[in-house]
Amino acid sequence: MKALVYHGPGQSSWDQVPDPGIKDAADAVVRVDAVTICGTDLHILKGDVPDVATGTVLGHEAVGEVVEVGGDVRTVRPGDRVLVSCICACGRCRFCKEARYGQCLGGGGWVLGHLIDGAQAEYVRVPFADLSVHPLPHSVASNDAVMLADIFPTAYEVGVLNGAVRPGDTVAVIGAGPIGLAAIITARLLSPARIIAVDLAEPRLQAARQLGADAIVKASEGPEDLISDLTDGFGADVAIEAVGVPESFELCTRVVRPGGHIANIGVHGKPATLHLEDLWIKDVTITTGLVDTCTTPVLLRMASAGRLDLSSLVTHTFPLEHMEEAYDVFSTPADSGALKVVLNGPAAP
Ligand SMILES: NC(=O)c1ccc[n+]([C@@H]2O[C@H](COP(=O)([O-])OP(=O)(O)OC[C@H]3O[C@@H](n4cnc5c(N)ncnc54)[C@H](O)[C@@H]3O)[C@@H](O)[C@H]2O)c1
Ligand SMILES: [Zn+2]
Ligand SMILES: [Zn+2]
Repeated sequence: MKALVYHGPGQSSWDQVPDPGIKDAADAVVRVDAVTICGTDLHILKGDVPDVATGTVLGHEAVGEVVEVGGDVRTVRPGDRVLVSCICACGRCRFCKEARYGQCLGGGGWVLGHLIDGAQAEYVRVPFADLSVHPLPHSVASNDAVMLADIFPTAYEVGVLNGAVRPGDTVAVIGAGPIGLAAIITARLLSPARIIAVDLAEPRLQAARQLGADAIVKASEGPEDLISDLTDGFGADVAIEAVGVPESFELCTRVVRPGGHIANIGVHGKPATLHLEDLWIKDVTITTGLVDTCTTPVLLRMASAGRLDLSSLVTHTFPLEHMEEAYDVFSTPADSGALKVVLNGPAAP
């Protein structure tokens, strides 16, 4: 088959590789019909994720048809259309028993396109298929469903739920990339009074406005003042960090109100300063997290009922074999306007 293979920092190519097969009785092999590229894949290509070995097939967000299952798989069979989650789960370890699948100790967690071959390929082997894939209802299109493999559960769990968004809250979302935009969409499920989006890039702020932000402000144009003005000087009830650089985390600590929540989603490569000299007295709660994807079934039910706008984030589609071009488009959003790009295999429904 063909797949996008990582060849070390700055290098990847669409190569001929062996087809994956069943290695363990809990595995499924899925034919990839829709797959997307994640900001984390760009981190890998920059060399920020040294655990990824040369020769690994990248990608951890896909939809496709099951073509083969191991003898222990009970809940899916060949012919089923499924969502392949970015997180696999053994279901047996201490963390899986608490639905903290991201922390799985039994060979799951974020393994696809990281520690084992991933989904930017014609076929992908998925370990622990019973807990790691989700059968899809006809009412959810593949190119929408693929948004549920990572960005929506990440934004909802690590941003909105960890941040404890409640009705009437003011929510500041720092960073309006795909994750920040999905945080805006899923925060609205909880009826906040207002959502304020902060980014450096004007097109991203316009996308935030279209997807439900009530106010938008450039990071360079005094977001602290706007957030203070809009909240009678209190600050945001919840600040969601969706960038992954020290400045955006530190901004969250300045705009949150006393007693408020800071929910960090961003993957950080450098230390940020925690200003305890200001924060010790503010009663703030700071959370961090890797997505567990434990809310995927809930988000899928909402999408199936037409209550979740998934399609607005897909700005570009390509045939699967145009993977390298899709990476170029996704990695230059200032020029391309890309939010999420989706690649479709020849058998995509
Ligand atoms: N915790 C998890 O489980 C998890 C899962 C997936 C992704 N992530 C991480 O979430 C983060 C966001 O992902 P994404 O795909 O939306 O990334 P992205 O790079 O597409 O978007 C980041 C946005 O932040 C903006 N930005 C940059 N510097 C800024 C600043 N100082 N202030 C305000 N905005 C700024 C950029 O203009 C961009 O629009 C990344 O760090 C990604 O690796 C975390
Ligand atoms: Zn991802
Ligand atoms: Zn586990």
